[in-house]
Amino acid sequence: MSPSLSPALRESPFLKACRREPTEVTPVWLMRQAGRYMPEYREVRAKVSFLELCKSPELATEVTVTAAERLGVDAAILFADILLILEPLGFDLEFAKGEGPVIHNPVREPKDVDRVRPLDDLGPLDYVFRAVRSIRSALRPGLPLIGFAGAPFTLACYAIEGGGSRHYEKAKAFMFRDPGAWDVLMARLTDATIAYLNAQAGAGAQVLQLFDSWVGALGPDDYRRSVQPHMARLFAGLAPGVPAIHFGTDTGSLLELQRDAGGDVIGLDWRVDLADGWARLGPGVAVQGNLDPVVLFAPEAEVRARVRGVLARAGGRPGHIFNLGHGILPGTPVANVLALIDEVHAHRA
Ligand code: CP3
Repeated sequence: MSPSLSPALRESPFLKACRREPTEVTPVWLMRQAGRYMPEYREVRAKVSFLELCKSPELATEVTVTAAERLGVDAAILFADILLILEPLGFDLEFAKGEGPVIHNPVREPKDVDRVRPLDDLGPLDYVFRAVRSIRSALRPGLPLIGFAGAPFTLACYAIEGGGSRHYEKAKAFMFRDPGAWDVLMARLTDATIAYLNAQAGAGAQVLQLFDSWVGALGPDDYRRSVQPHMARLFAGLAPGVPAIHFGTDTGSLLELQRDAGGDVIGLDWRVDLADGWARLGPGVAVQGNLDPVVLFAPEAEVRARVRGVLARAGGRPGHIFNLGHGILPGTPVANVLALIDEVHAHRA
């Protein structure tokens, strides 16, 4: 399933850190590194809608590669969205102007779960795999490419809420009220995600990241009951030898449970101290994070000092991938993003 790695990729700082091997410099990449904060991205987006951009392998390649090269980061991330997988499962997805994602036919009743189709045919997502192949061949040979998917809980939140939400009251009420139907929905999302991620790895992604962006809305008992078994099955189903990053936000009370579910690298956001979080996770995993994305709105000297602060918490231990605790926000000054990367690369443990 996983194509063999070239020596340049195998020995890249990012893949070494995923395997917890020492690196000369700490590898860094940034979630949403290709996004609206960047003028080159806005220029492409002025011509096409967000979904058209995702569905054009040529344009997805352009924005992915431009961002990675302009920033000088240690990994590129496929340009796509976690919600694309919902279309072939039977959801009617729209990115409405100024509103964010909208799903016009959300799951609201247990019987609605029956219309969530299995992803037996990956054909409708072929544009993603074509983008992976095209990005892989456009990147410099030693720069790893990250493929990704939304984790089932976060996808279920969108599928049930029908869009973004502050408290996830519809999704969580569904989970509390109908645990059986919830598990069927989660199992379908899990099956689809395993097939989708393995196909991304087969097309040329070296690392896979699962975005469980909203899982911090749950307490530990609900995570253990309603999410962890599905996540454990998902990680167990991924192609062996392809490192997986397990990302979430606001997960301070869930870290050990997430680690037990799986992933070679665990994401930490800025609400946890990186050294404390890593101590709780133990030596068997690498960590990714954890600068507050809003720090990038501070003066450059403060950005650099905060970067050094995160690196000091990591203390030069093998297995730290520098990142923000969540995605770059629109309006972030590009100069500060470049300063962040420069500061990480200038650092010697
Ligand atoms: O990181 C990258 O550069 C790769 C591309 C990427 C996008 N979305 C592009 C995008 C990735 C990895 C995602 C993941 C994603 N999408 C997540 C998980 C990550 C996270 O932030 O927690 C989530 C929750 C989504 C769903 C989604 N997509 C939302 C809520 C929105 C609207 C929010 C907003 O900022 O408007 C999107 C749209 C989206 N996805 C944009 C980009 C660059 C902005 C679209 C635009 O150009 O207008």
